[in-house]
Amino acid sequence: MKGRIKHPEWADKGRIKVEWAERHMPAIGEIVKKYLKTKPLEGIRIGACLHVTKETAVLVKALQQLGARVRLAGSNPLTTQDDVAAYLDSIGIEVFAWRGETQDEYFEMIKQVTEIKPDIVVDDGADLHVTLHEEKKEIAEKVLGGTEETTTGVIRLKALSKAGKLLYPVIAVNNAKTKTIFDNKYGTGQSTIDGIMRATSLLIAGKCVVVCGYGWVGRGIAMRAKGMGARVIVTEVDPIKAIEALFDGFEVMTIEKAAEVGDIFITATGQIDVIREEHMLKMKDGAILANSGHFNVEVSVSDLERISVSKRKVREYVEEYTLKNGKKLYLLGEGRLINLVAAEGHPPEVMMCSFSNQLLSIIYIIKNHEKLERKVYNVPEEVDTSVAQYILKAWGIKIDELTEKQKKYAESWR
Ligand code: NAI
Repeated sequence: MKGRIKHPEWADKGRIKVEWAERHMPAIGEIVKKYLKTKPLEGIRIGACLHVTKETAVLVKALQQLGARVRLAGSNPLTTQDDVAAYLDSIGIEVFAWRGETQDEYFEMIKQVTEIKPDIVVDDGADLHVTLHEEKKEIAEKVLGGTEETTTGVIRLKALSKAGKLLYPVIAVNNAKTKTIFDNKYGTGQSTIDGIMRATSLLIAGKCVVVCGYGWVGRGIAMRAKGMGARVIVTEVDPIKAIEALFDGFEVMTIEKAAEVGDIFITATGQIDVIREEHMLKMKDGAILANSGHFNVEVSVSDLERISVSKRKVREYVEEYTLKNGKKLYLLGEGRLINLVAAEGHPPEVMMCSFSNQLLSIIYIIKNHEKLERKVYNVPEEVDTSVAQYILKAWGIKIDELTEKQKKYAESWR
């Protein structure tokens, strides 16, 4: 069956883009090669809700090569790359996504994914998981298992599990070491700065960049902003992370204080209303607001609308708000994840790490679902380690091994 996309005529452009990503994600090809003979996903229906990027295309193509039927929706209304969607559609992946969906269309496309009655559910942010649990229980009951790509999605699924309502086992791909360390930190670090630069075309050097949240994502953004010559301030609610930020060489203060001095604000907390009216009113004329957390709730856009007398679009993805106090603030990408809205998301090398975990976790569920309970599981240690091995092998990097004497030493107490 055909999906719903915007520009089927862009398939060729999409194919070339995906070939570029494929070239830089060799571990995915290695995993496909290993399982091509046995085709563990033969006859399996996979319902996926992921940012429709060239890297995601490499993953869903791999799933298809291993035998699965895949139906894909976008995991954000503003992040689909329409040329990639067109290419996937041309090779038989059922894509229901385009850039610029309304909120209603976004959820309508997610419902289309549930219609194939998936055996496996792959999600980024848990909107597909939650839709299945709230509106399509009879389908959810029959799902063999699912995976979740991001921190916010894992938090939602753990809450569902705690309430005793999770209907199938889920592997928290986000929590794999080979995902968080590379994707959340280095991937978001680079692509967030990339998104802000593409959206604004401004210089980072010499700016005061305020990073809200010093988790995996915040650490990466702060590190890269510093590397570009910015003066970086971190805001946190966790005292331990605050000290870590301080020892990493950043200034730490409250958002109330930082509001007065920042030139560019970047939220990366997974929390709601991190930048609110009282902070916006204190900001300098010309301050820029961007978000890299999963949902568009970190910068309170409703507060910004309320305290403004007018707004206009001044560049693609840059909205100028004139406040009642006469100052102008600039909101990037409607407060949605700026790295995927204004740039192309994480680089392929990083998504190779994340999606190798997705691919191997899906195969793991197919092989082990009868033993799994309706719980949120971490990626099995052996899968996590094997992802790192696939990647080092693909890059031709060899590392040392412990000698027998060293192994003994590591286990001795004398
Ligand atoms: P994390 O849990 O490691 O870090 C979040 C940090 O924010 C914590 O240190 C927490 O103490 C802090 N925080 C919470 N509320 C705060 C507040 N009001 N003010 C200041 N700090 C606050 O989570 P991680 O992995 O860093 O993810 C953060 C968000 O980014 C999540 O929504 C996640 O889904 C999303 N994400 C986005 C990606 C992208 O491509 N843009 C990629 C990976 C994750």
